[in-house]
Amino acid sequence: MSESNIALLLELLADGAYHSGQALGDALGMSRAAVWKRLQSLAQYGIVVESIKGVGYRIPGGLSPLNAGHIRAGVSDLAQPYIGRLSCFELIDSTNEFLLKEQSQSGDVCLAEQQSTGRGRRGRSWFSPYGKNLYMSVCWYFDQGVSVLDGLSLVVGVLLVESLAELGVSGVRLKWPNDLLVKAEGDNTFVKLGGGLIEVGGDLTGDCKVVIGVGLNVAMSEAVPVGEREKITQPWGDLRREGYAGGRDELVAMFLSKLLPALNNYQEQGFSEYKSRWERVAAYRGESVSIHLQGRVESGVMLGVSESGALLIQKGGDIEVFNGGEVSLRGAANDH
Ligand code: BTN
Repeated sequence: MSESNIALLLELLADGAYHSGQALGDALGMSRAAVWKRLQSLAQYGIVVESIKGVGYRIPGGLSPLNAGHIRAGVSDLAQPYIGRLSCFELIDSTNEFLLKEQSQSGDVCLAEQQSTGRGRRGRSWFSPYGKNLYMSVCWYFDQGVSVLDGLSLVVGVLLVESLAELGVSGVRLKWPNDLLVKAEGDNTFVKLGGGLIEVGGDLTGDCKVVIGVGLNVAMSEAVPVGEREKITQPWGDLRREGYAGGRDELVAMFLSKLLPALNNYQEQGFSEYKSRWERVAAYRGESVSIHLQGRVESGVMLGVSESGALLIQKGGDIEVFNGGEVSLRGAANDH
């Protein structure tokens, strides 16, 4: 936010309660018309403001900004030695892009309240409205090339699901490799809660810089007005609907407490210890699925994953192995 009175306006509305135009104007030293203009400009930052005639304005659910100090203090003793620079931006193009282009070190973390060009897997964009969800990236260096990293994106998914379970959100499932899914309201389909995007820089056969990006819908429903929800291309859920009442700082601290020690051990240990943990929380296991490869669709029964994290699909009497990137998996009930 460039203008200081916009920042002040946000502070006043952060409690989520209704404030009259008059009260806001008095606090900001401006007319009600000027307040209204500032409120309109919040929309361009993706901030939803509700109004009731004769009552006033509010930000549904309020705002609770990310706090780097709280996050750092919440990280476990085991993970403390690995945490590096923790940057929190109000607005950034993409937290992944920031760590990729900066001189980042292993353990550096980037968070943002909002991303202007957040990116998802398979070239999709990642809808990143202000102040309600989690957009976070972590940098780590590996010195044996990218091939060692097979399975890392599944590890990220496992650690996210386990972090959420520890914070009381059970029932989150993983769609290969690391889409976080929850059951939709009222039917048996899944909707997306979040996902991970791993990007690599440097020497792909030797010293490489890996950026692990995570997007998690915390209170998406408060960030998108009811009439605009269809704009998000994939069916989505959020943690509030799953009963999570906690803050984003706690979520980040819990996830970093698990991720950083795991990254430290990953090059030596690899994926195999995560195989059963991934399968335990897999969506569609034992069910018919279709796999969308470039230009063709294959179907079979989802068995689980291999020791390196590849997807195992039974087709008749054969087991087929599908590796990263180009595969998209959809359960029969979710074929949209
Ligand atoms: C997916 O498509 O499921 C992965 C989404 C990953 C989004 C996160 S948000 C933080 C980080 N920065 C980005 O630009 N993308 C990732």
